Amino acid sequence: MAQQDIFYRPMKGETSGLPHDPFKSFVIPRPIGWISTTSQDGKDNLAPFSQFMNVSFDPPTILFVGHQDLYKKRSRDTVMNCIETNEFVWNMATYDLRDAVNNTGKETWEDEFEEFNIKKALSRLVRPPRVADSPVSFECRVHSIVRVSNEYHGKATAGPHMVGNSDIVIGRVIGIHVKGEYITGDGLFDVLKAAPIARLGYRQYSYINNVFEMTIPSMPDEPKEVAAVLAGAVPYGDPEAEEEEEEKTT
Ligand SMILES: Cc1cc2nc3c(=O)[nH]c(=O)nc-3n(C[C@H](O)[C@H](O)[C@H](O)COP(=O)(O)O)c2cc1C
Repeated sequence: MAQQDIFYRPMKGETSGLPHDPFKSFVIPRPIGWISTTSQDGKDNLAPFSQFMNVSFDPPTILFVGHQDLYKKRSRDTVMNCIETNEFVWNMATYDLRDAVNNTGKETWEDEFEEFNIKKALSRLVRPPRVADSPVSFECRVHSIVRVSNEYHGKATAGPHMVGNSDIVIGRVIGIHVKGEYITGDGLFDVLKAAPIARLGYRQYSYINNVFEMTIPSMPDEPKEVAAVLAGAVPYGDPEAEEEEEEKTT
């Protein structure tokens, strides 16, 4: 028999009444930001973040969200390293790498690459290493960090708060690595071969094992180039201008 419909107001401290909080199982599937950083004193770090997304694609920027660490009682190491060094690397989390991804969620004080035997590859423009076996990595420079606090107009929102403040780390993607074995004969990224994993709610995950296509309808007087850009057909920017920009920021 179907359960009753539910409505509740989390800002007023109300809950769903269900045995497990369903909130994280609604905004799904969430791709995983498997983020590598290096501390100022040279210790590498690797951790998964399912509050992760691209922000823009022209030019490319991405974000991940680090909550307060319940075990260490402070910001995540990843966020602290981003504040200190302004650099991070995103690595694609795939079905083949799922155990390694999950292991690096451990709130250890060690370098997770070494603790879990994950092979490092050098980055070209930033200090944090890449995950050598990941099909795609982005080298990033921090654009900004925005704190979402558990206060609303200066007052703490109804609790109890397990996690509290969250930091949105936005990064400019300054270098992109793609392994050739994941590029199809017609030049597309082979998403079914890579099989990226995504986080659902509870302990549930999924991975990409099917794809379908649709074309966004366009206005009769819309230039064809607009639809082409949305479908990813136009290369980003002017490489020479970008090189100059890179020199300015390195
Ligand atoms: C699949 C997965 C997704 C996660 N997503 C997040 C997230 O979005 N934000 C967050 O703060 N912690 C998230 N965690 C927990 C962190 O990865 C974990 O606390 C980790 O130890 C943080 O590492 P760090 O302190 O080295 O940065 C996730 C864990 C897993 C396994």
